Amino acid sequence: MAIERTFSMIKPDATRRNLTGAITKMLEDAGLRVVASRRVWMSRRDAEGFYAVHKERPFFDELCEFMSSGPTVVQVLEGDNAIAKNREVMGATNPANADEGTIRKVHALSIGENSVHGSDAPETAAQEIRYWFSDTEIVG
Ligand code: CMP
Repeated sequence: MAIERTFSMIKPDATRRNLTGAITKMLEDAGLRVVASRRVWMSRRDAEGFYAVHKERPFFDELCEFMSSGPTVVQVLEGDNAIAKNREVMGATNPANADEGTIRKVHALSIGENSVHGSDAPETAAQEIRYWFSDTEIVG
């Protein structure tokens, strides 16, 4: 298996409920290592740029409003098969469809306020990491 890096966010619904540590522990328990981490209050522009791929979707406005409504913890995670592993531990986008024991099943409030984000493929992981971090901020 290949060592990979992926991008993760702990979203405002989770930081508001003081779940940064609880969620990070679930990631670490799944074998992922936090090699970069920063708490940011992103601007509406940051959110629109980050989620540009969704700009034609009906939920885009709501998504950008929510993501700029409070602090987010942006992270780079490293490990064997990190992209798939992170998606597995996050669970389905809609917490109603998430497997038992996943972050979204345990902590998410709704499809919009779903506590975490994780990259879905190597190309998006590289792009999303670059959006938030410079190489010198990532320490493996
Ligand atoms: P995320 O993995 O961050 O990627 C895009 C986000 O859009 C997704 O998680 C959800 O939080 C959000 N999203 C997807 N579908 C909807 C929806 N129908 N209504 C509101 N938000 C949504």
